[in-house]
Amino acid sequence: MTELVIALDLAAAGAATELVRRLQPVGALLKVGYEGLYGYPAEIRAALREAGARIFVDAKLCDIPRTVEAAVRALVEPGVEIVNVHAFGGTAMMRAAVDAAARRARELGMPAPPKIFAVTLLTSLAGEDLAELGLGGDAATNVVRLAALAHRAGCAGVVCSALEVPRIKAVCGAAFETLCPGIRPAGSARDDQKRVVTPRAAAALGADYIVVGRPVVQAPDPVAAARAILEELQPVTEPG
Ligand code: C5P
Repeated sequence: MTELVIALDLAAAGAATELVRRLQPVGALLKVGYEGLYGYPAEIRAALREAGARIFVDAKLCDIPRTVEAAVRALVEPGVEIVNVHAFGGTAMMRAAVDAAARRARELGMPAPPKIFAVTLLTSLAGEDLAELGLGGDAATNVVRLAALAHRAGCAGVVCSALEVPRIKAVCGAAFETLCPGIRPAGSARDDQKRVVTPRAAAALGADYIVVGRPVVQAPDPVAAARAILEELQPVTEPG
């Protein structure tokens, strides 16, 4: 079953904490990114804790293993189900993140450690950018190679486009999870996302998590928008 993650991409602490409160009955995972982590960390953490939210900390960590280990320790708390790192930090760094999440979760008596997901290639990079960085091959080739590295390092999965899910699962196995942004419910605005996939199509491609921001956060009724997506993710049952 594909899980819904809602990106709390809001510049103001008040709007973000209010949205956490409103979305509480929906039960989706809530993603806190740079805006919240750097802009209003104490407020967002308190709101998420109070709502008993399921949390994805979109920290995109990338540093030497010891520093990433310290960051993961600081980020893990009850409710945190996913933390992410950059695959470009390398195997030892990804392993340090996985081990730190497991150790910290045990210390805190959490039922399961947060999953560590790796960002492979930022979707803002393409063609010339890759060559400039000294990366041979196209984006998809690099994504699959980095996914295999993240898999070997013990990560639970990778952040990727839903369109890349079948190739990643073919190389890393079906149990290696995928978390996919670039999702747009049928009929909603594309915003700045270039290649978009509907929630149902992402589920059909095998995405384990879909990340949706603006179509929910900026909807007149975010709760109704989130529920409509959950509805779309329900497996279609054949009549009779
Ligand atoms: O508003 P929208 O649905 O486009 O938001 C998608 C979220 O997923 C944003 O928080 C964005 O930063 C994140 N994201 C993305 N593409 C990636 C990685 C993360 O859109 N490759």
